[in-house]
Amino acid sequence: MRATAHAKVNLALRVRGTRPDGYHELRSLAQSIDLADVIEVVEGSGPVVVDDPAVPIDDSNLAKRAIEAVRELVDGPPMSVRLTKRIPTRAGLGGGSADAAAALGLAARRFGVDLATAAELAPSLGSDVPFCFVGGTAVFSGRGEHVDRLPFAGGYALGLVVPPVELSTAAVFAAYARVGPGDPAPPPAATLPPSLRDLAPLGNDLVSAALALAPALGEWRAELSSRWGRPVSMSGSGSSLFAFFTDADEAAAAVDEVPPGSRLAVAAQPVERGWAIES
Ligand code: C5P
Repeated sequence: MRATAHAKVNLALRVRGTRPDGYHELRSLAQSIDLADVIEVVEGSGPVVVDDPAVPIDDSNLAKRAIEAVRELVDGPPMSVRLTKRIPTRAGLGGGSADAAAALGLAARRFGVDLATAAELAPSLGSDVPFCFVGGTAVFSGRGEHVDRLPFAGGYALGLVVPPVELSTAAVFAAYARVGPGDPAPPPAATLPPSLRDLAPLGNDLVSAALALAPALGEWRAELSSRWGRPVSMSGSGSSLFAFFTDADEAAAAVDEVPPGSRLAVAAQPVERGWAIES
């Protein structure tokens, strides 16, 4: 069985406080995009097979953990995982969470578990997994466990760039404790696609913390903003950067302007689901 597992972009991210469990109370407008990993599961055991050495292959792999969590409910046979990675790691695009959400969906289908039951397993796998399991356009809050789906807000494309900077979410939140919230250049509402204007302002409170850890990120942001002639935003805890364009052609032309050396530079479009079973 095979599924696509879609990346997410945080179009807006607010940190509203710290929680007794050490996590942060968040509120984020998130969007699934067409950039996707492929996950395949077959009967059997053994380490995860994956084409990106940055992804763990042992029992800590989120997709493997997701399948195991569903399998335990029904005492089913072991399943092994093969991942084709397109979503860069440590980029704020929810790659591991997307794989875990798709794995929950695949395992639910394979083991005859209903999706509502599989959804209950999502928060324990990671803060972004509940959103990725729902997908589309949504606001998530709490640690990430409350997901309110919104009507799909499409009709635009993104220029999406991952600079040569890797950021750990935990490290960015630790830096946030020192530098506090701040986004030096949130996009003005007038620069947003029509479908998102009512949802403004779309700032990201983690930008200052990410820039404090990785000054090169600020240089990439300024360079892209100058080449593209528009504000450039950051997804999640970074390091991915994005800007809004009218359509895929305009975004593709913008991607051609990206300086060499990025980890990824693509035109991306919003999609209505976080994952989809293909076969
Ligand atoms: O839940 P997840 O493993 O994705 O979180 C990674 C790290 O991000 C946590 O260890 C924590 O430091 C930070 N985090 C947070 N508050 C959230 C989500 C993540 O502090 N709501």
